[in-house]
Amino acid sequence: MPSRTGYDLAAAGYDKKEKYLNSFEQNKILPLLGDIRGLKILDAGAGTGRLAVELSRQGAKVFALDVSEEMLKVLSSKDKKIKTVIGDVEELPFEENFFDWIVSAFVIVHLKDPTRFFDEVYRVLKDGGRFLLTNINQKEPPEVDTREGKIKIESYYHRPEKVREILESLAFTIEKEVFVKEGENWINQIIVAKK
Ligand SMILES: C[S@@+](CC[C@H](N)C(=O)[O-])C[C@H]1O[C@@H](n2cnc3c(N)ncnc32)[C@H](O)[C@@H]1O
Repeated sequence: MPSRTGYDLAAAGYDKKEKYLNSFEQNKILPLLGDIRGLKILDAGAGTGRLAVELSRQGAKVFALDVSEEMLKVLSSKDKKIKTVIGDVEELPFEENFFDWIVSAFVIVHLKDPTRFFDEVYRVLKDGGRFLLTNINQKEPPEVDTREGKIKIESYYHRPEKVREILESLAFTIEKEVFVKEGENWINQIIVAKK
C-alpha cells in the first residue's frame, strides 16, 4: 500500500509504537542537533511529531511536512506552534536556502530511491545547513494494525554505503555517522550531512 493511504489508516494507532521506534535511536538524535533555539527546522516525513514536538519544545521554529494529512492532524493536536504542510519530500514546497536543519527519521525506508529527496533537501537548506537522517535496517515491511485490519506499507531497504554515496554525489559532506546496534547487528544508521 502506498505511504499516503497507509499512514492515513495507521495514524490513529501510530503513537502506540513510540517506544519501539525510540529504541532504534537510543537517544542519539537530540545530542547530534545541539542547541537549536531559534533555528528553522524542517521535519520531513514528520508523522505524528515524535521528533517535531520535542524540537519545538526546545525552542526551534519547526515545520512539519508529511504526505499523510491524518498523521499531521495528530501532530497538530500536540503542538499548535508547529507549521504543518501536507506534501511530498521529493518536491519540497519551500524556497532555496530556507532551513538551518532538516531532520528525517524512518522516511527513506518508504522511498524506492532517495536521490530526489536528498536533492530537494540540499536545495532548501541554507549554505552550511545540516541534514540529519535515519536509515532503518528493514528488509521486509512490518504488518501495521489499522481500523481496517492489518496492512503493509510500501518499503525499501537501503544499504548504508549507498546512502552515503548518494549524499556525497550531491555535494553534501558527511559530518557524522552513527550505527545503532543490537548485539553485533546494526539496526539504524544515523547520518549528519552538511551542505
Ligand atoms: C515511519 S513514519 C515516521 C514518522 C516520523 N518521522 C517518526 O520518526 O516517527 C514515516 C512517515 O513518512 C511519511 N512519508 C512517507 N513517504 C513520504 C513522502 N514521499 N513525502 C512525505 N512524507 C512521506 C509517512 O506518511 C509517515 O508519516
